[in-house]
Amino acid sequence: MLQDIREVLISEEELQTKIKELGATLSEEYRERNPLIICVLKGAALFMADLVKKMDVHLEMDFMDVSSYGSSTKSSGEVKIIKDLNTSVEGRDVLIVEDIIDSGLTLKYLVELLEHRKAKSVKIVTLLDKPHHRKVDLTADITGFTVPDEFVVGYGLDYAEKYRNLPFIGVLKPHVYEGQ
Ligand code: PRP
Ligand code: MN
Ligand code: MG
Repeated sequence: MLQDIREVLISEEELQTKIKELGATLSEEYRERNPLIICVLKGAALFMADLVKKMDVHLEMDFMDVSSYGSSTKSSGEVKIIKDLNTSVEGRDVLIVEDIIDSGLTLKYLVELLEHRKAKSVKIVTLLDKPHHRKVDLTADITGFTVPDEFVVGYGLDYAEKYRNLPFIGVLKPHVYEGQ
């Protein structure tokens, strides 16, 4: 697996240092608010797991899996719910945890859905922001790192479902995805 990586963009240590900072900031913000922390599967699973360990507040966790209607129609902004929340968000302070924002369509849909379901507040923390291909005006409330317009994988992010288990964020060698 490691032989497919061209370079390490964000090391394991840099990730963990940043997550500790984010956890401290979020602990301040959500103290006494019993937030519902929502992980957007599958990419955000590793970030979520590490982030909540750095939050010294009472919180609840839930998981949602959404997918665009095929890559060709991703620009349509249609998102399908694969797995919904188990928890009602009505009146709750909700924090969405994402691994990366690219077009912004996934999160735009989710934020609107949770607001429609009467969440008291909806905020976004994303580990990575790739602002180059935004299709909608969407900004996270908290961003870990802004990344260049490259094929990044690892720490939850996949290429064809692989590489999620890398402990760092890396850039794939082009031969891995070229000619697919
Ligand atoms: C990826 C990523 C974000 C979303 C970002 O998820 O994890 O959730 O795409 O793209 P967008 O801003 O253009 O909507 P993906 O749909 O590949 O599912 P996964 O998390 O299971 O890999
Ligand atoms: Mn995802
Ligand atoms: Mg993916």
